[in-house]
Amino acid sequence: MGKKTQANVNKNKEKRNARKQEQRRIADGMSSVNSANKLKDLATLCKELLVYRNNELEVEMYIQRVTELDKNVLQWAIDLTERNMKHLYETCAWGWNRDRKVEEMTDEGAWYLVAREKKGTLLAFSHFRFDMDFGDPVLYCYEVQVEAEGRRRGLGQRVLSVLEKLADATRMRCVRLTALTHNPSASAFFRACGYSLDETSPGKDEAAHYEILSKLTENQQGGDATQETCPLSDGMKAVQVGNPQ
Ligand SMILES: CC(C)(COP(=O)(O)OP(=O)(O)OC[C@H]1O[C@@H](n2cnc3c(N)ncnc32)[C@H](O)[C@@H]1OP(=O)(O)O)[C@@H](O)C(=O)NCCC(=O)NCCS
Repeated sequence: MGKKTQANVNKNKEKRNARKQEQRRIADGMSSVNSANKLKDLATLCKELLVYRNNELEVEMYIQRVTELDKNVLQWAIDLTERNMKHLYETCAWGWNRDRKVEEMTDEGAWYLVAREKKGTLLAFSHFRFDMDFGDPVLYCYEVQVEAEGRRRGLGQRVLSVLEKLADATRMRCVRLTALTHNPSASAFFRACGYSLDETSPGKDEAAHYEILSKLTENQQGGDATQETCPLSDGMKAVQVGNPQ
């Protein structure tokens, strides 16, 4: 039995404080995730980004929970994912399993951002969720898929901008996603949009066929910005329901 020195007492106190701080950080994160998932209308948080025009395109976007999504739109999203991704899944350890993909895409926590041309043609979508991931509150982008004829017109980038705005307004730490390392166009796209290797990504020595990328929300990019010092955006205040805080 060692003697209880002042240095030991201080060290234990520091450890206890650090543990308490971490518990509070996780509880705050869970509270933000729960609040985000209870929101009725995410569009009010990002409405200035939901119309996208350039020389060739006039696109409108809307956001719905999977449970509200039109069945034909959901079917189109599943088919587009299969057309875009099947061959990439088949050439890695994941393999392609349509039923498993459908199960993931219809999880009750799934939100959808859908982009369609003014005349009605569906062009792009993202499946995303507000969730805790490795102790962080994140907007996890499960899917961003653009029809071949809609690519290289800035639409994918706009879809990510909407997700980033939503993540910021709902006090998430970042937008996080999983990308296949043998999908070079996606890798170039995400990097061009400011995404970089996340701390939770497998190390190079693990030889994984995927990597985790992320981009911090604006409220986190300030450096020390913590959830306590980062107030809710006005938009979120306006539509928030039942914030347990
Ligand atoms: C990857 C994808 C989402 C990009 O969408 P997009 O609408 O074509 O992308 P954007 O037009 O917004 O591109 C923004 C920037 O990203 C980069 N980029 C996009 N596609 C690229 C490609 N194929 N090769 C290299 N860079 C690319 C460019 O810098 C581009 O800017 P620029 O066109 O001015 O040079 C789209 O190609 C796609 O749906 N691919 C198939 C599915 C997929 O791989 N999804 C991602 C994994 S879940």
